[in-house]
Amino acid sequence: MFDKIEYAKKLIKQKKSVAFSGAGISAASGVPTFRGIDGLWSKYNPEILDISFFLKNPAISWQYIKEIFYNYLKNTKPNPAHYAIAALKCPVITQNIDNLHQDAGSNYVVEFHGNAKRLICLSYGSRFNAEEKLLEKLPPRCPKCSGLLKPDFVFFKDPIPKNALDSSIQLARECGIMLVVGTTGNIMPASQIPYIAKENGALIIEVNVNESNYTESIADIFLQGKAEEVLPLLIV
Ligand code: APR
Repeated sequence: MFDKIEYAKKLIKQKKSVAFSGAGISAASGVPTFRGIDGLWSKYNPEILDISFFLKNPAISWQYIKEIFYNYLKNTKPNPAHYAIAALKCPVITQNIDNLHQDAGSNYVVEFHGNAKRLICLSYGSRFNAEEKLLEKLPPRCPKCSGLLKPDFVFFKDPIPKNALDSSIQLARECGIMLVVGTTGNIMPASQIPYIAKENGALIIEVNVNESNYTESIADIFLQGKAEEVLPLLIV
């Protein structure tokens, strides 16, 4: 493991790196992952984040959305993995909606799936900080026009925000190293980003407690372990 860490460190110093993160990087911050035994989808029905279901049943969806994403999000803090990525000063493409890369100080973060800290009005597209007072009565309504508010993150069947998709593809094409952290690689189109990097000549360094879809297929270096323990070793 030590040799692999040293080799990864050397490569990261030499080449232009981009980080690509998933739910595993926030596990140590207390944010639940989606899949796995303790994952959200073992406790909740994913249809609450299906856009068609949400539009028909906003009060039901919102009851769970508030419980899952808002009751805890206000107290979460970045962990050593987020700070290590921030210290690398590399662009980050994240599937996470928890704002923890930004809180840790990464200043170029592509929010592939949006961000739960914002709410968007489905009538006129105004955006608001997800403050508690807006979520007192569910479903929340736009303070300007009373339109339905939705978390400003991507639901199942929602398109990926065009800017985020374009920037991610560009970063993937141009990087020399893609550091893939804490993601299973199950969800399209996000899962394709590391493959685009690989096809364009990047080396893939993966950090994950378990093997993922990338480990056998494209990872050049697999650093098996917790992101919050492994990533800090890459910056010392
Ligand atoms: N350190 C590193 N990896 C970890 C850790 C940890 N401490 N804890 C868990 N993992 C790994 C798991 O082994 C798994 O590969 O993190 C990954 C979490 O996988 P998922 O829960 O599937 O999360 P993710 O890949 O980010 O999901 C992608 O799915 O439902 C959607 O939109 C949602 O953005 C999300 C997308």
